[in-house]
Amino acid sequence: MIVDTLSSGYCPGGESIFPSPSKGITMNVGTTIIKCRHSVRDFKSTPVEDHIIRDSLDCARLAPTAMNLQPWLFGVIREKKLLAAVADLTDHAKFIAGAPVCFAVFGERSAKYYLEDCCAATENLIIALQAYGVGSCWVAGEKKEYAEAVRTLLGVPDQYCLVSLLPAGYPADITIQKKKDEEDISFFDRYSPG
Ligand SMILES: Cc1cc2nc3c(=O)[nH]c(=O)nc-3n(C[C@H](O)[C@H](O)[C@H](O)COP(=O)(O)O)c2cc1C
Repeated sequence: MIVDTLSSGYCPGGESIFPSPSKGITMNVGTTIIKCRHSVRDFKSTPVEDHIIRDSLDCARLAPTAMNLQPWLFGVIREKKLLAAVADLTDHAKFIAGAPVCFAVFGERSAKYYLEDCCAATENLIIALQAYGVGSCWVAGEKKEYAEAVRTLLGVPDQYCLVSLLPAGYPADITIQKKKDEEDISFFDRYSPG
């Protein structure tokens, strides 16, 4: 299905996230961008502009971190051969080869909360890219056997560990996943089953 994620108003469950006077919903740019995000694995060949990459990296580095350590390193892969080589190393992300750009988020192993910190940065990257209409797909890193091979391929020192890969580009095709309902996965004050 080809969808313009920002203008379609598609959100999990297929409901519109645009204002509905009858439901008393008002427009919020930030939450709209978040709700329009879907993993994208099929990209147009159009390059992602430098200023978008830079601004997204800027958003990544502003993510919260434990003790404000900012224990990370962000790689930006654009060379076709390198993209293909990274894709080849992965098990469930061969589509990286078809992305115009792939971010690689590395964490400093010595920082106790590097995983949480780098996940926060990854999500900031995803949302910043989405704000420009650039789709992406979080690809696992830290728990994967290929993590060390990707690090070595990119020449990153071993004080760092690959946390995530994020292939990105303008969407050619998007799959909309079903999501759990908010009331089924939340509670206020004290939990009660059922
Ligand atoms: C930690 C993590 C690892 C993931 N790894 C992969 C992956 O290796 N390959 C892939 O195609 N998608 C991967 N995904 C994307 C998920 O499949 C996707 O987020 C999920 O199906 C929900 O779809 P949505 O992102 O469109 O909401 C990963 C997502 C997360 C958060």
